[in-house]
Amino acid sequence: MQAVQSYIQANRDRFLEELLDMLRIPSISADPAYKAEVSKNADLVAESLRKAGADNVRVIPTAGHPVVYGEKRIGPDKPTVLVYGHYDVQPPDPLDLWTSGPFDPVIRQTDLHPEGAIYARGSADDKGQFFMHVKAFEAMLAENALPCNVKFMIEGEEEVGSAHLEQFLNDNASMLGCDVILISDTHMISRDTPSITVGLRGLSYVEVEVTGPCKDLHSGLYGGAVANPVNILAKMIAALHDENNHITIPGFYDDVLTVTPEERKAMNEAPFDEAAYRKELQIQMVHGEAGYTTLERTSIRPTLDVNGIWGGYTGEGAKTVLPAKAFAKISMRLVPNQDPEKITDLFARHFNSLAPPSVEVKVHYHHGGYPVVTPTDTPEYLAAHKAMEKAFGKAPIPQRGGGSIPIVPLFEKVLGVKTVLMGFGLDTDSVHSPNEHYGLFFFYKGIETIPYFYQYYAELKAGAK
Ligand code: BES
Ligand code: MN
Ligand code: MN
Repeated sequence: MQAVQSYIQANRDRFLEELLDMLRIPSISADPAYKAEVSKNADLVAESLRKAGADNVRVIPTAGHPVVYGEKRIGPDKPTVLVYGHYDVQPPDPLDLWTSGPFDPVIRQTDLHPEGAIYARGSADDKGQFFMHVKAFEAMLAENALPCNVKFMIEGEEEVGSAHLEQFLNDNASMLGCDVILISDTHMISRDTPSITVGLRGLSYVEVEVTGPCKDLHSGLYGGAVANPVNILAKMIAALHDENNHITIPGFYDDVLTVTPEERKAMNEAPFDEAAYRKELQIQMVHGEAGYTTLERTSIRPTLDVNGIWGGYTGEGAKTVLPAKAFAKISMRLVPNQDPEKITDLFARHFNSLAPPSVEVKVHYHHGGYPVVTPTDTPEYLAAHKAMEKAFGKAPIPQRGGGSIPIVPLFEKVLGVKTVLMGFGLDTDSVHSPNEHYGLFFFYKGIETIPYFYQYYAELKAGAK
């Protein structure tokens, strides 16, 4: 293990340079204009796996963006770890809020990151994080110290819902066979409080369209006599929460598993500085469902949020018009045991019922995913716990995350394999926002931690035999 850590030390600068090269590719999966760049990024991931020493490296096409696969088999008696990550990124807009170009990575120091942080789209989510695994793998191979079989599956459409991945898992189930899935695509509390993510929220993402008259009308001639879809949509959206910020959709909470008072007490013992949180976001007050803390609102409770809303005239100056249509994109974050399909149905029914007969409503389903809770009593969780404790000098605490990674419940459903979410980002890394960054401390700490995971995991699995 000492040799592996020395190898990492000796190659630090090269590792960083290679990551910066990857960050220069605008692999925006949501925008068809970037299809070639996404594919170029897949090729670079493949090349990085080959260079690190992986065998059978392939860029596998799907009906969406390609999946990159690579592996190293050292023996059928050894456990197999499947590393999952994604090389696609969210669109970088609004561009004018970036201090430097989103695909022109630069290192800047901040109070939280005195060693410097890499500013670029994808630095934390997820290129910087999955790349730690490629480099840790390279170091273990180079020093002849790889204790497990390893498979890499790095995909290119996580940020748009991994729509083609269930098919991919079904088609490649035997190639992907493994004992555990290891993912770094989540966050920890802080460098002083390492944590391991033990749950992800599910998602239902819909788009709604409200139609009034057949065309835009003069708002003086018709205003007051014909339904204005924007007015009506605003009213319908407002009706989706009550005065306690509970969601009003009938049946919405029916399947929500209650979290015991003991569990809630434990999760609220995690360090959380509300004043710092407000300061970072420049808000006077937090806002959310009555009866729950901020930590609970962002992990164990479901939510409904408008992600975008438009309609009518939004250009320069003023145009007097009564718009024909109004639209909104709405996401619902789900918790165990809510079912995205059922929730989408409940939403559609309720939303339609809110509309007056003067308009027509369409609800279009974009994508979704199931919530998941990962166990803490498995050899893989214990291995991650020990690895982080070793690298950070402090035991990590379990914490449920608020985001979604749609493939995690699918790994469980299709392959029957559980996941460990050992992520090294921070909530303040601005993922999906302007000025996304990833601290160098966390990048190197991750590379240092991963080989310990393999070592402890192999030991624990051998001991269990
Ligand atoms: N890496 C995130 C998910 C995440 C981040 C989970 C931090 C927990 C903590 C992932 O890339 C992501 O953004 N997922 C999307 C999924 C969606 C597009 C289906 C999300 O959560 O919005
Ligand atoms: Mn991610
Ligand atoms: Mn993301």
